[in-house]
Amino acid sequence: MEKTFLMVKPDGVQRNLIGEITSRFEKKGFKLVGAKLMIISDELAKNHYGEHKDRPFFGELVDFITSAPVFAMVWEGEGVIKIARDMMGSTNPQEAATGTIRGDFGMTVGKNVIHGSDSPESAEREINLFFDEKEVLSYSKND
Ligand code: CMP
Repeated sequence: MEKTFLMVKPDGVQRNLIGEITSRFEKKGFKLVGAKLMIISDELAKNHYGEHKDRPFFGELVDFITSAPVFAMVWEGEGVIKIARDMMGSTNPQEAATGTIRGDFGMTVGKNVIHGSDSPESAEREINLFFDEKEVLSYSKND
């Protein structure tokens, strides 16, 4: 079954949005198969955001994501990678539609509450970066 990596960023954790955000994915019918509250190391942040290393905002991005706890998650379900991105909304909260997570709660392009994998390749890479194999559970659940 398809899996994706989602992470409530430091601004979302500080603003008590973990419950609100996880609730949206639960209600949509996706299955939570891994989760942890963690402080990201500098090394992990640079690796995770490696594709942005030449961008002018890279330093700011790494400083922010390592500044306070994040809530890292693995969600499972049919089409979850794209559907979760749709539920998150555009990267810039000022452009994100009302009803999406970033549209409803995001403040700025940096403080945009949530990160989600943008492709099957990123999902696999990011899940493996943040979670050990044994931390991603396999279990059945009634629909
Ligand atoms: P995310 O989906 O986590 O992936 C990369 C992040 O870079 C993105 O969300 C934004 O939060 C951040 N980002 C993109 N553009 C900018 C920018 N101009 N300034 C600061 N952060 C940015």
